[in-house]
Amino acid sequence: MVVPGSHHTEEQVFPPPLELQNDAHVPDFQSYLQLYKKSVDEPEVFWKEVAQDFFWKSPPKGQFLQYNFDVTRGSIYVKFMEGAKTNMCYNVLDRNVKEKNLGEKVAYFWEGNSPDRQRSITYRQLLKEVCRCANVLKSMETGVGKGDRVAVYLPMIPELVCVMLACARLGAVHSVVFAGFSSESLCERILDSQCLFLVTADGVFRGEKLINLKQIADEALEKCKEKGNFTIKTCIVVRHVGDKMKNGIVSNKLQTHWTAGVDVWWDEAMASAGEECEPEWVEAEDPLFILYTSGSTGKPKGVLHSVAGYLLYTALSFKCVFDHQPGDVYWCTADIGWITGHSYITYGPLANGATSVLFEGIPVYPHVGRFWEIIEKYGVSKFYTAPTAIRLLMKYGQEPLKQFNLDSLKILGTVGEPINPEAWLWFYNVVGQQRCPVLDTFWQTETGGHVLTPLPSAIPLKPGSATLPFFGVQPAILNEHGEELEGEAEGYLVRAKTPYPGYQCFIFLIEQRNAAVLPTQSQHGKGLSGPGCRRDKDGYYWITGRIDDMLNVSGKDSKNKLLDSLMNNQAQGSQLVVAHRTTHCSMDYTRLNLVINTKKGIYCTGDAIDGLPVFPVTAGKILRRVLRQIARGEKDLGDLSTLADPRVVEVLSSQRSEAA
Ligand code: WT7
Repeated sequence: MVVPGSHHTEEQVFPPPLELQNDAHVPDFQSYLQLYKKSVDEPEVFWKEVAQDFFWKSPPKGQFLQYNFDVTRGSIYVKFMEGAKTNMCYNVLDRNVKEKNLGEKVAYFWEGNSPDRQRSITYRQLLKEVCRCANVLKSMETGVGKGDRVAVYLPMIPELVCVMLACARLGAVHSVVFAGFSSESLCERILDSQCLFLVTADGVFRGEKLINLKQIADEALEKCKEKGNFTIKTCIVVRHVGDKMKNGIVSNKLQTHWTAGVDVWWDEAMASAGEECEPEWVEAEDPLFILYTSGSTGKPKGVLHSVAGYLLYTALSFKCVFDHQPGDVYWCTADIGWITGHSYITYGPLANGATSVLFEGIPVYPHVGRFWEIIEKYGVSKFYTAPTAIRLLMKYGQEPLKQFNLDSLKILGTVGEPINPEAWLWFYNVVGQQRCPVLDTFWQTETGGHVLTPLPSAIPLKPGSATLPFFGVQPAILNEHGEELEGEAEGYLVRAKTPYPGYQCFIFLIEQRNAAVLPTQSQHGKGLSGPGCRRDKDGYYWITGRIDDMLNVSGKDSKNKLLDSLMNNQAQGSQLVVAHRTTHCSMDYTRLNLVINTKKGIYCTGDAIDGLPVFPVTAGKILRRVLRQIARGEKDLGDLSTLADPRVVEVLSSQRSEAA
């Protein structure tokens, strides 16, 4: 890597602002390079130091990091802190309250869909609520225990964070399903991971529109029953929009069916629950959560992250990328139903004792300046959003921004898709007043945290580039034959050579016990998984798009024979998908690795899972295209058939007409 801007480039380079540098965790480019080198040369030493900030009930049994990426030396594995005992919830709550004296600090400013609904919750209050919720979950007839799956179908309210952490406290595995998804999607996800519990709410307002979540949840459970695989024992219902009344909701808008013996009101159950709950000490590699990426075809795939690796990775990336400082008010506008919310609303910020805004609403309700209003109201200093939102808000011009004071902003970030330079510059010039770096963060559900990203004080920016790799990540660009390309190059991005903790990801395959492994190149004669990517002369990465469906994972009995023959076949340039099954606390899950055996060495990447036939064309992404079209006022919105919940379109369209 050369220092960008040290020679002529056609792109505009934005150096880091000096005023951020004084207290920055990674103050300059040299520090980045040094830390980066350590993270890839000595990953064990590097991550061990990160782990020192956190609480481990007992240390790893063997080495801190063990891995084998070399197919010629047996099976592929990565183990971070194997045998260590810890608890995620303890680390993000108890540790902050008891060891860091942050009990009175606000964890979340909750801002409702309607600007007159808000609430703030301190670390101490959140810890109490979480303990009570954990006690509620434990006390059910078939109480929630270690390894049990809990489906969570909630809007962006504090109870959502609370139930995630309560699961983590009990060693249970949450599966959050975006509350904009349909009953069919919810049903599929409940069945796939055989959830025992469902937590939902009576309803939610999105903009003007009232959505009866409980009814959708009921429909989902009906569908599960029809499919003859009903696992849900209890459905806990948060009273969010309805009036108080036993066994049913009566408000002027919402009527809810109540199933005796299954449905339980959250507030009634919580009222009698104790405020103390000993955390369950789980193993470093025990599962923390499942999150589904929706496929364009076939079943959604459940990506599973485990405790220790995910903690280290989200904590460190949050701290360095947003350069977290104690006085910050941080706001990520994503929904917790996506990985962005899991990593950078729930776990990363809490692990750092941060204060975040938790926003229930949408950018254009009740007016198109809502984001800017919220930034002023809470004095937001770090603001993380999606290119789609920026492009949507750009259309309304600068007028809505001028009504609010955005001087508190220090750092801006984007995620989810490439940001076009025009939107980048608008974000930088208009929102950030040319003072705040704009961080284009590239990553995936499977990576758990940032993979390519600028660091605000250390890495000069180029609009449209996600710049350089985060600590521990060694990207490689390969051509269609699986050969690594050096220097300036364009091809397929893979992560290679060293493991990093976010890499600890599995696919939940409880029903696909025979998921088999097929060679890719030898089978199809072409192709690699991974996004298309260009590396420029400064070593900067530019994501050019996604290349889908290059790998195939299917078939049944041929599995072992095939694997054996692949393992024995060390032909140059071959690629394998290696599925390797682990059984943890009564769960069966599979880790998939793409192993690329090239002339220069063997690379192992987590990208294999991207290449499954159920490759995610997420509802989120489709929605972004549709959002743009709605914002432009287009009538023909094209194919909406893969949209998880087409009703969102109606809501947005109606808001567009109101706003117009
Ligand atoms: C895919 C992952 C991880 C957050 C939410 C999406 C695309 C994500 C960027 C970016 C270009 C990006 C990629 C990636 N993507 N961030 N900064 N620049 N593309 O998670 O649903 O797992 O999707 O989103 O195509 O592979 P996801």
